[in-house]
Amino acid sequence: IKNIAVLTSGGDAPGMNAGIRAVIRTGIFHGRNMFGVQQGYRGLIENNIIPMNARSVSNILHMGGTILKTARCLEFKTDEGMETAYRNLQANDIDALVVIGGDGTFTGAKRFSEKFEDIKVIGIPGTIDNDLYGSDFTLGYDTAINTVIEAIDKIRDTADSHDRLFFIEVMGRDSGCIALRSGIASGAEAILLPEKFTSVEDLIAKLESGASTKKSSSIVIVAEGHKHGGAYDIAKQVEERFDYYDTKVTILGHLQRGGSPSSFDRILGSRLGYAAVNALINGETRKMVGLRGNEIKLTSLEDALNTHTFKLEDDLLEMAQVLSI
Ligand code: F6P
Repeated sequence: IKNIAVLTSGGDAPGMNAGIRAVIRTGIFHGRNMFGVQQGYRGLIENNIIPMNARSVSNILHMGGTILKTARCLEFKTDEGMETAYRNLQANDIDALVVIGGDGTFTGAKRFSEKFEDIKVIGIPGTIDNDLYGSDFTLGYDTAINTVIEAIDKIRDTADSHDRLFFIEVMGRDSGCIALRSGIASGAEAILLPEKFTSVEDLIAKLESGASTKKSSSIVIVAEGHKHGGAYDIAKQVEERFDYYDTKVTILGHLQRGGSPSSFDRILGSRLGYAAVNALINGETRKMVGLRGNEIKLTSLEDALNTHTFKLEDDLLEMAQVLSI
């Protein structure tokens, strides 16, 4: 491996900058020429590829977002798009790529490296959704949970003062990871997850039980990917049959993607970026670096994308029920 480029693609996630910094500095430490690609795969196609040095990544560790910018690029799904990207990499004499992103990013990376085998590719899981196999935690997930609980704590203050029931929708396209952990950490009365069906009857029974034991407020977290309705929809169904509380809805939205990364995400981004470059130097390709237990492990992009395990911990699911009575 001679020259390595790094890019961020898909939804941004806090900790991506820590990952970029670690990739650039580890590559420079090993004597490689390093490049940053702006706006993900779009930058590859548009030849927006810039040389980077150790100082290009100074003072970014604490910053949310991604200094390289990101995009969701449809053109990279086409053969023409991929060929243009390949020609631009060749023109810059780049033979290795580190891609930081989620499943869309890895799907593109896998196809690209199958088509052009002389470009070695390693992925870093960067998404607040935590929906990839092969890493217990993805970059940005921990910070997003912290952001969500900070918001819910504030909502709890006003909910409690007014004796209100709040439905709070949190992100997670197909994943209830943010919902489950933020629900536990904020003492939510109920958590509605895409992975697990909760009937409106059961939800109402839970809220009634809380009301009968004098709960002055209640918080219901609804994961964005919940299959049986979003927060507004569920709130309406509950309100029609249970009017003990005044009901309100808050959609937290994109604020969950911003903010300074937690220490966990800064350290995770650093470890994964460092490991990604070492993996390339050791001749690895088409793999993802991830955290399993407290160790950095490699998983094939194929497995990361196609292994669909239930990522919600059983003990957390059970505990959330018990502690919210
Ligand atoms: O994948 C991260 C995520 O924030 C999801 O939770 C959400 O569904 C999606 O991205 C939103 O994407 P966009 O910012 O493109 O609207």
